[in-house]
Amino acid sequence: MRLAAAIAAGAVALSFSVGAYAQGPMVIKFSHVVAEATPKGQGALKFKEIAEKLLPGKVQVQVFPSSQLFGDAKEVEALLLGDVQFIAPSLSKFDRYTKKIQLYDLPFLFDDIEAVDRFQQSKDGQDLLSAMKNRNLLGLAYWHNGMKQLSSNRDKLERPEDVKGLKFRIQASDVLEAQFRALGANPQKMAFSEVYQALQTGVVDGQENTWSNMYSQKFYEVQKTIANTNHGVIDYMVVTNAKWWDGLPEDVRKGLKQAMDEATAYANKMANDFNERDRKLIADAGKAKIQALTKEDVAAWRKAMEPVWQKFEGDIGKDLIQAALKSNQ
Ligand code: LMR
Repeated sequence: MRLAAAIAAGAVALSFSVGAYAQGPMVIKFSHVVAEATPKGQGALKFKEIAEKLLPGKVQVQVFPSSQLFGDAKEVEALLLGDVQFIAPSLSKFDRYTKKIQLYDLPFLFDDIEAVDRFQQSKDGQDLLSAMKNRNLLGLAYWHNGMKQLSSNRDKLERPEDVKGLKFRIQASDVLEAQFRALGANPQKMAFSEVYQALQTGVVDGQENTWSNMYSQKFYEVQKTIANTNHGVIDYMVVTNAKWWDGLPEDVRKGLKQAMDEATAYANKMANDFNERDRKLIADAGKAKIQALTKEDVAAWRKAMEPVWQKFEGDIGKDLIQAALKSNQ
């Protein structure tokens, strides 16, 4: 019922947008949940700058950061309803729309962000951008954020036994839920905008995220230890409403696609720069200890999380997992 309403409203939004274009610049809204000083925040602003330069007088792009317009729970629905035209949720948050994208949440699948990039640029990676088209969600690009680290309010975070019984905030992903259960911890799905307070008040003991998110959200101020696990990836898919996109005048769609390609290159460069910078800033702040891990420690985390793969390989597909693994070479 909800989806039917959303699809119908998508058609209304489409005719409204084209009509509005005839009278003045088409207003295009880009909503996201992170701060402006993050790779995604900067990428969205770059997209605005280039789109308005390429399509003068034709489009006006409005960017809404920090869940100001829509948070995690509502942004996809808002896109389907035509209330916003671009969002860039982390890949973990598409779990409800396609099982295949769960691939990206498998722990220790990719060795580093370069391997993630190689997979995303491969045919299999590019095909996933259209995996939700039957749900009216079209992926236009991947944007990097970076590799995930684990943090907690305990002094030690060296081995899996250090998180037993602790409560961890997770994104809305069944794979991540299984990952923390495999560690003997208690996962709790929660919107990004609520994490700082949940950590501060002890509603949860820990979380997993990139350096840039932990710095911009000040998680390091309310956590005691951050372990350099690199155990997974948090990247984004910039998605639009497929009906709206297909119904755009040709020149507008072309200009927006070019702006998206240029903003993608920019956001990806920012991701490397921000993660490196924010890791140092967190270390310099001296509030949370950064726990370096030995090879043996990392192997122990990997082993403890291993059972997750088997649980999801049926839904994701063995071939797709093999294709992703190849990008490590
Ligand atoms: C999170 O919810 O932890 C992050 O994925 C938020 C984001 O968009 O980076």
